[in-house]
Amino acid sequence: MTLLSVRNLAVDYATKGGTLHAVSRGTLEVGAGEVVGLVGESGCGKTTLARALTGVVPRNATFKGGEVVFEGKDLLAGPPAAWKDLLWRRISFVPQSSMNALDPVYRVGTQMEEVLRLRGGLGREAARNRTAELFGLVGLDAKRSVEYPHQFSGGMRQRAAIAMALALEPSLVIADEPVTALDVIVQRQVLDTLRDLQSRLGVSVLLVTHDISVVAYVCDRVVVMYAGEVVESGKVGDVLAAPRHPYTMGLTNAFPDLERAGGTLAPIMGAPPDLRSPPTGCRFAERCPFAVARCRSESPPLTVAADGHASACWRSDEAAALAETARDPATWTPTSASAA
Ligand SMILES: Nc1ncnc2c1ncn2[C@@H]1O[C@H](COP(=O)(O)OP(=O)(O)O)[C@@H](O)[C@H]1O
Ligand code: SF4
Ligand SMILES: [Mg+2]
Repeated sequence: MTLLSVRNLAVDYATKGGTLHAVSRGTLEVGAGEVVGLVGESGCGKTTLARALTGVVPRNATFKGGEVVFEGKDLLAGPPAAWKDLLWRRISFVPQSSMNALDPVYRVGTQMEEVLRLRGGLGREAARNRTAELFGLVGLDAKRSVEYPHQFSGGMRQRAAIAMALALEPSLVIADEPVTALDVIVQRQVLDTLRDLQSRLGVSVLLVTHDISVVAYVCDRVVVMYAGEVVESGKVGDVLAAPRHPYTMGLTNAFPDLERAGGTLAPIMGAPPDLRSPPTGCRFAERCPFAVARCRSESPPLTVAADGHASACWRSDEAAALAETARDPATWTPTSASAA
C-alpha cells in the first residue's frame, strides 16, 4: 500500500543571484513499512525535497507545483495547518546533523520528555516512562538519559535523534543523512537499528544519503536524484544490479561497498549544473559518457517500465549495454566523458 506519493514536486529558492530551482522533478513513492533511499551527490536537492515533505521549508523557499499525497490526501493542495498538524504525529524528520535535533544545554532525557509533553500532550510521569521506553527502542541505556548531548558519542546522539522522531509513533520517518558523520562500524550499527525499528514498528523510512552503499545495505527501494530531478527509481536489487540511468551507473562505481571497503573507484568527473539556469536538455549531458545530440536539446521524461523500474534517459533501451561499458573505470575518465 502506498503511504506517500510525490509527483513532480518543484521547490525554488529566492537567492541574491536569482531563482534557484532546487527541486524540479520530485517524484517518488514510499509504501507502508518500506525503507526507501533518496540518493544523489551533494547539492542535488535531497534535503530540499525531504524537508518539503514535512511542509516546513526555509523562508526563501516556494512550492512551485506538484503533488504530495500522504495517506490519500494531497497535502500541497490542502490547508497548510492540516499539513503542519501531521508533523511529528504522522510524519517526522531527523535532521542532517543530530546536533540540530538536540539542544546542547539540556539533558537528552529532559528534551525527549519535553517533546512528548509539548507535541504529544503527555503528563510528566507518562513522558518519563515513554522516554525510557524510547531509549530502549533505539538501543540506548535509559540510565544515560540524565546526560547532556556532548556526553554522548556521535552514534548515541544519532540514536537519540531517531528516538525523538519516533516519539509520537509516526507512520513515516524522514531521516536526512543519518549516518554520514559516523565511522563505518557505527554507521552499520545505526542502520541495523533503523532496519530493526522498521520491522518491529512497521514504520516507513525515507532515508536520505549521498552514499549508495548505505542504500544497498538497508533500503528496499531507491530513488536517485540529479540536479533537482529524480532520474531513476525502483527496487534496490534491480537498480543497483541493472541501473538504467548513466548517473546511477556512475554512482555505483564511485562508492566502496559498505561490506568491503576498497576496490577501484571511478568518480564522475565534472560538476552538476548551476540550478539557477539548468540546461534545457538532459541535466546530466555535460558529464555523461553516453550523451548524443538529442540529450542536449530535449529533456528526457521519467518513464516507468512494467516492472516499476523508472528512469529518465533517452538511451534507456540500451541500458544493459551502457551499464556494461560503464563498469569500466576508463569510461569515466575526462577523455571519454563528453564534458572533456
Ligand atoms: N535555504 C537555501 N537558500 C538558497 N539555496 C539553497 C538553500 N538550501 C539549499 N540551497 C541550494 O539548493 C540546492 C539543493 O540543496 P540541498 O537540497 O541542500 O541538496 P542536498 O541535500 O542534495 O545536498 C543547492 O544548490 C543548494 O546550494
Ligand atoms: S539522456 Fe543522454 S545525456 Fe542524459 S543520461 Fe541519457 S544518455 Fe546520458
Ligand atoms: Mg542535504
